[in-house]
Amino acid sequence: MTESKNSQKLYIETYGCQMNVSDSEIVVSILEDKGYTITEDINEADTILVNTCSIRENAEQRVWGRLDVFKQIKKKKPELIVGVIGCMAERLKEKLLEEEKVVDLVVGPDAYRDLPNLLDTTQSGQKAINVLLSKEETYADISPVRLDKNKISAFVSIMRGCNNMCTYCIVPYVRGAERSRDPETIVKEVEELQAKGYKEVTLLGQNVDSYNWDKGVENKSIKFSQLLEMVAKVSPKLRVRFSTSHPKDMSDDVLYTMAMYNNICNHIHLPAQSGSTNVLEKMKRKYTREWYIDRINAINKILPNCAVSTDIMTGFPGETDEDHKETLSLMEFVKYDIAYMFKYSERPKTYASRHLKDDIPESVKSTRLTEIIDLQIKLSAESKKADLGKTFEVLVEGVSKKSTEHLYGRTSQNKVVVFPKNNYQIGDYVFVEIIDCTSATLIGEIATK
Ligand code: SAH
Ligand code: SF4
Ligand code: F3S
Repeated sequence: MTESKNSQKLYIETYGCQMNVSDSEIVVSILEDKGYTITEDINEADTILVNTCSIRENAEQRVWGRLDVFKQIKKKKPELIVGVIGCMAERLKEKLLEEEKVVDLVVGPDAYRDLPNLLDTTQSGQKAINVLLSKEETYADISPVRLDKNKISAFVSIMRGCNNMCTYCIVPYVRGAERSRDPETIVKEVEELQAKGYKEVTLLGQNVDSYNWDKGVENKSIKFSQLLEMVAKVSPKLRVRFSTSHPKDMSDDVLYTMAMYNNICNHIHLPAQSGSTNVLEKMKRKYTREWYIDRINAINKILPNCAVSTDIMTGFPGETDEDHKETLSLMEFVKYDIAYMFKYSERPKTYASRHLKDDIPESVKSTRLTEIIDLQIKLSAESKKADLGKTFEVLVEGVSKKSTEHLYGRTSQNKVVVFPKNNYQIGDYVFVEIIDCTSATLIGEIATK
């Protein structure tokens, strides 16, 4: 029995945000410790886990589609175990076991340490579920198994959950209350990554600016700006990124720390959601248009070369044409380099679903989204054109898909650059002068100086 268990092959598929990508690495670490081996071939798997997202209706639809596919595989291989983990597991709980004949196992984001036990239960033919949320769990002591291909850039989770309760958002319900991870374990993980040859880490949290570790020496609390500095000091050759910043909490301290350390990348993901104070109020984002603009002005003043990206949501309940125009004008003002743009999708349990009618017709949502996307295409192009003639330090991530004679990498601002290979290798830092651009990419040549 033990022998067969030790040769179990695990296939894992991940949807949703970077946090889920990071969680899948924790899950694999926990299961590898119990003898599971990872496979990339779904047909070879004894266990399939799908790490899921509930942020919008269509994120869940995609997972239902996958479950249909797993059901077909299971028809041919009845002993196959299928588990749903992550945010959708937390949201739907037993319903996943009841409604969908394919699912054997349901595990929420704070219960991954229980996975080996739960999988044992399923192997004896029973269904298993653990969707308890925790106030403490941060998986601080678990060393994630990196699933990325290039071994250059890694995610490091610094906190879990969210306390903000934006009225549209499911995250606080499926991820529980906010808790910060012990900074010593964060620095240790980053040091280990550096020792393995990683060149970049991205610190992850739903709102990194509210990171707060108050159990330090003499109860001195550690805030995000201090954590950022601790991580930046690990090595000047290790790039540090972070996501997501919340406009209501992003302090000048963080910006000054970024300015002090060359290896902290000049990029801030600062989701605006809307440019209208009326809408922001209904979303309970706890900032106004003016406050957001003040934060952008602070970034431009303290970090003149900093790129800013955003998330925009359109068609929130009650959003007027006037509100929509304010979103467009905010985008023009900030000149975002990148934006992730979504139609509002009502999520069960949220304040908005209980109190605000989803009253913007689908056709209006679509028209507004198209206008937002068209504007962003223009802004992204302008942001790239503004880089022509400039020289950037690029961290090489891989060989260009279009030509083996070219490499690609990112600037500190997180923009992708393609340039001639010469003798450079993945993981090198190269100074590249930008000579051209396409809609998605900067094109450069090796800088001569
Ligand atoms: N913690 C991050 C956001 C995490 S969710 C923050 O506060 O910015 C990622 C993005 O999904 C959000 O920024 C928002 O733009 C979008 N989103 C969240 N809930 C949504 C919903 N109900 N409908 C549509 N988009 C949503
Ligand atoms: Fe959701 Fe708001 Fe928390 Fe972001 S800050 S995860 S949008 S509740
Ligand atoms: Fe989705 Fe959960 Fe992330 S709902 S966006 S995977 S926190």
